[in-house]
Amino acid sequence: MKKYLIIPLALFAAILFLNFNTTGKVQTYTSVTSPGLTIPDDVQKIIDNHCYDCHNANSESEKGKKKLDFDKLLKLKKSKQAGKLSKIADVVKEDEMPPAKIIEKYPEMALSAEQKTTITKWAEDAANSLFN
Ligand code: HEC
Repeated sequence: MKKYLIIPLALFAAILFLNFNTTGKVQTYTSVTSPGLTIPDDVQKIIDNHCYDCHNANSESEKGKKKLDFDKLLKLKKSKQAGKLSKIADVVKEDEMPPAKIIEKYPEMALSAEQKTTITKWAEDAANSLFN
């Protein structure tokens, strides 16, 4: 192959790869910040691995995304954000999320005690600090 073809080909491949990444169904992101609300890496990792699949804008779980869409969480008004955050803390504390059905099928979806504390504490602190 002629050498001068390599660069355009590499660019083409890079564009394909980027497109694929932005349209891919499961997206992950790290450390997102909006004014007033920060999702630290350890919390983001829990969300990505245990919640995001059902709670994102493209989720097949209609009920799940209607109740909570992590893609939109950072864009909500403070009052709505605080409401979602305290719901997050509630459902994790009560072992309602991730749903028992999915844990039965995929035991690795379960949260460890430490992960529960991490996400609950973050959600409660974040909800409180939104209005301080
Ligand atoms: C397998 C899919 C699935 C996973 C994984 C999942 N959820 Fe859900 N979640 C749902 C569905 C479905 C609903 C709607 C339940 C309903 O309305 O009865 C829901 C509802 C919720 C609600 C709204 C509760 C309410 O009463 O308003 C919150 C908050 C929530 N989930 C948080 C989480 C968090 C945090 C995680 C990760 C630790 C998580 N979910 C993981 C499917 C999922």
